[in-house]
Amino acid sequence: MSTSWDTLTELAGTVGEGTIRDLLEKDPSRATRMVVEGAGVTFDYSRQRVDQDVIDALLALADERGVLQRRDAMFAGERINVTEDRSVLHVALRMPKTESLVVDGVDVVQEVHSVLDRMKAFADKVRSGEWVGHTGKRIRNVVNIGIGGSDLGPVMAYLALQDYSDRDLTFRFVSNVDSTDIVEALRDLDPAETLFIVSSKTFTTLETMTNAGAARDWLRKGLGDDADVAKHFVAVSTNATEVAAFGIDTDNMFEFWNWVGGRYSMDSAIGLSTMIAIGPDNFDDMLAGFHAMDEHFRTAPPAANLPLLNGLLSVWNRNFLACPTVAVLPYEQYLSRFPAYLQQLTMESNGKRVRLDGSPVDYETGPIYWGEPGTNGQHSFYQLIHQGTSTIPCDVLFFAESLNPLGDQHDMLIANALAQAAVFALGRTEDEVAAEGVPAELVPHKVMPGNRPCSVIMVQKLTPFALGALVALYEHTVFTAGAVWGIDSFDQWGVELGKVMAANLIPQLKDGVAGAPTQDSATTATVARYRAALGRS
Ligand code: F6P
Repeated sequence: MSTSWDTLTELAGTVGEGTIRDLLEKDPSRATRMVVEGAGVTFDYSRQRVDQDVIDALLALADERGVLQRRDAMFAGERINVTEDRSVLHVALRMPKTESLVVDGVDVVQEVHSVLDRMKAFADKVRSGEWVGHTGKRIRNVVNIGIGGSDLGPVMAYLALQDYSDRDLTFRFVSNVDSTDIVEALRDLDPAETLFIVSSKTFTTLETMTNAGAARDWLRKGLGDDADVAKHFVAVSTNATEVAAFGIDTDNMFEFWNWVGGRYSMDSAIGLSTMIAIGPDNFDDMLAGFHAMDEHFRTAPPAANLPLLNGLLSVWNRNFLACPTVAVLPYEQYLSRFPAYLQQLTMESNGKRVRLDGSPVDYETGPIYWGEPGTNGQHSFYQLIHQGTSTIPCDVLFFAESLNPLGDQHDMLIANALAQAAVFALGRTEDEVAAEGVPAELVPHKVMPGNRPCSVIMVQKLTPFALGALVALYEHTVFTAGAVWGIDSFDQWGVELGKVMAANLIPQLKDGVAGAPTQDSATTATVARYRAALGRS
């Protein structure tokens, strides 16, 4: 691929074959040297299987691959999403009002703030009770209907920032076309007090439009056919035509733009439910956190640039240490959906097999991201991380201060986070196990190979600002890795084929319409079995 790639391949055979235990023993200073800070996030990569030569070669790789030029092109609004011929400007969503970014003759920062102002006015009305439903009752329930980027960000942020939310309001998130999702979400809600936010960039997504229709039916069933639906439905979309066609007054539509990717949209109008939950001021703090990390990514020197280093480390672990997955382990219950959110961000972005010019890659790209909050995961899947046959790099994430201090529990939580990070990195040798008097036959079972690369990420306290900074960290981490791999991290063509096929299958399942002659025999046979199971054949 390049000179640095070759250097890194060589280093993989030396440093990569060594142990983190040795690295830490031989150079204790790495524990303080391999730590960078940005936007209130402290990123400690001293437990990664790297030395300074690896870091230097990774930085040289970033240089050769033009990562910083691509970063600057993104911030300048160039159309770096080449397959969709679009700018990639989620960074504009959090630029302060005093800044300006003109793209195609339009100052996008002013557009962003004019929508933010409308969102704030609306959120205040809902929060204060001024916005009332059809019967005059104030809104007490907010239901976001959306999927993918129009769901995962809102639900993750709501849960993450619940401590800052108005507890008099109930929030629900409906995404799945499985009717159970909406039926359970609405079961105990009073339609007179319920507001639906239909969130969809395209406003054509099957799941969202189907659920929005079901919500409208539920509302009319509860409030009568003459109910003023407009008082209970608002839309967040880029597509005013489809919003109007659905019957939502475009005055009640909060706009965003096609230069915001779905998975990069939680700080756009897609965050309307977040803003209603935590209030406009807290939402502004979250935007400030995003922006602080953007500025860090844009201006910090490469060797001290947190997202750049994190992205390069993910390349090292994926391509040179051959690790196919990454576990994200937040030691913070409020971040229970953070790994799920990151799955879309990372895997829809970097799950690609061709370069920008369409040529196939001859190296691995995006790893699988997964995880659960600690300490729960410790009693579930950590066994495989510790003693399984795959090496799984881990991001261990925690906050110094608890939002709900209770006795010693926070110290216990953090002790567990640090213990796991140490065991991932160092393991426990045969000698150590034997020295504990373990019977010889059990020694191999109790040996922990360690050498699992691990980053420890610490933030002072979970605030809206901190959440924004953390999400932006991962956004730019994904960007960095995608730029090294030379892929388009901002399209998602792989999800389209299944949607088209599902649309063709609906009439087959429902009405027995014949499939196209080209349809595969396995699908045709399963359709027949499904229809038979329902007595439809
Ligand atoms: O199917 C994938 C996807 O297009 C995601 O990229 C997107 O976040 C999601 O569907 C929802 O799309 P929309 O916001 O247009 O409904």
